[in-house]
Order: sequence, then C-alpha cells, then structure tokens
Amino acid sequence: MLLPPSFRRLAGNEATLAAVVFEHVDPHRDGKRTAARRALNRLGMEAEHWQLYHTPWGQPRFRRTPGMSSAPPQAQPVVSFTDEHDLRLAVVAHADGLAGIGLDLLDMSRFLRYAHDASALHRLQKRIYSPAERCHTAPACTWQGYQLAALRFGMKEAVSKAIGTGLLLGFGLGAGFGIPISSIEVTIHASSADIALSGRAQARSSRLGIGHFEAVLATSDDLLLSLILAWR
Ligand SMILES: CC(C)(COP(=O)(O)OP(=O)(O)OC[C@H]1O[C@@H](n2cnc3c(N)ncnc32)[C@H](O)[C@@H]1OP(=O)(O)O)[C@@H](O)C(=O)NCCC(=O)NCCS
Repeated sequence: MLLPPSFRRLAGNEATLAAVVFEHVDPHRDGKRTAARRALNRLGMEAEHWQLYHTPWGQPRFRRTPGMSSAPPQAQPVVSFTDEHDLRLAVVAHADGLAGIGLDLLDMSRFLRYAHDASALHRLQKRIYSPAERCHTAPACTWQGYQLAALRFGMKEAVSKAIGTGLLLGFGLGAGFGIPISSIEVTIHASSADIALSGRAQARSSRLGIGHFEAVLATSDDLLLSLILAWR
C-alpha cells in the first residue's frame, strides 16, 4: 500500500523542527532493519554507525555500532514502528534535544461500533480517558464521540511509544512496563494535539528529561496517523 498523500506531506517535514523521514517496512526483506537503514541514509546520517535493537520491553532504539573508528557527527537518532492492515511504517528522526518519537497507525473504523452503542462508548471512555477528558466528553453516541475516542487512542499509543513504555492494556506488548492509558491526556486540534501527563507517565517523562511533546495528526479515509516527538 502506498503512503496516503496527507501522510506524505508529513514526510516533507513541514510540521516540526526535527529532520523526520518515513519509510515503508517490507517484512519480506529484513523489514525493520532495512527500513531503518534507508531512513538514516535519507537523513544524511551514516547508517553503519547505528545499530537497531529492541529493549526487553519492546522499544526500538539505535545504539552506536561498536568498533567504528569515528564518532557519528549528528545527534542520536530516534525510531518508531507501526502497522495497520498491510501498511507498515517506520519513522526515524534526529535533532538536538529530541528525546523520543512515537508513531501509531489506526483504522478508525475499528471504533465504528461505538457510534451506534452509547453504553459501549461510555465504557470505552471510562477505560481510556483521563479524569479531565471524562469531564469534557459528550454523553451521546455521536460521530464526534467515537471519532474523538479513536483520535485520542491513537495519540495515546504514540505518546506511550515516544516515552518507550507502551500501554498497560490487557496482555499487550509492554504490559509489564506499560503506563495506564488514562495517565495521558490528549486535547485534539485540527491537525495536532496538546499532551498532558500524570502519574507514572509523568514520572517516566520527567526521568527522560522531556519538557514538551509535539503532536501531529493526519487522516486518510479511515486511517489515522499519530506522530509524537518528545523534546527535552
Ligand atoms: C506499543 C503498543 C502501544 C503497541 O501498539 P499496537 O497498536 O499494538 O501496535 P503497533 O503496530 O502500532 O506498534 C507495534 C510496534 O511498537 C513498538 N513498540 C513495542 N513496545 C514498545 C515500547 N515499549 N516503546 C516504544 N515502542 C514500542 C515495536 O516496534 C512494535 O513493533 P514490533 O512488535 O513489530 O517490533 C503497546 O503498548 C500495546 O500493546 N498496546 C496495547 C494495544 C491494545 O491492547 N489495543 C487494544 C485496542 S482497544
């Protein structure tokens, strides 16, 4: 599947001060590693200086390749992966002060059932919303109600990746390390969002020295892309 046009604009680096590139991940060709290497090359970084690995709690990271003669000149790159249906994406970025990145793709039609089921939407909101988000939530099962839940969910997943924890949801990835989804508060704007953290999410973000989050939202039909840059 090709990258939808509204997502491609993000790759044009309009939204942020960081150098950001998106790459398709081809699972049949050493997927993530190759995509990460292509992205580093496109950023003008020397890909052989960086090795991709995953932490025990699932976070993808770069580390310096041991034994390289010269130190890489640029800031440490950050990386995130996501997939939905047959679209698999990597994003790699680097900039001074950039502490983390989180990318999430979500098919919003997964949330469609909440448009017709007020009590299910209410239960979902109770589960995934922060106390402040709950106060501003429309009670009826409106288009806005279920779309807002989907937008917030995608953003929260992206934030959890940017701080490297994942979400504490059932037995999903990173469940042992994850943060409660309600500790991330998201205020949605047209193509961005404001992020506020509490509890364990806030503690983790302070430990990483993160000062603020930059959020970018893009949609293409039912597909939602949420991108978070975590800045020191
Ligand atoms: C990280 C998390 C958010 C995964 O999100 P997801 O929507 O399941 O999957 P995505 O395709 O978007 O992302 C998966 C990638 O996230 C990355 N990832 C995993 N753990 C991570 C972590 N702790 N920090 C940063 N990135 C992480 C990995 O690269 C992973 O790809 P891989 O498994 O192929 O290596 C995780 O916390 C999780 O499992 N959340 C629960 C999801 C869930 O239960 N959804 C229910 C829907 S109502």
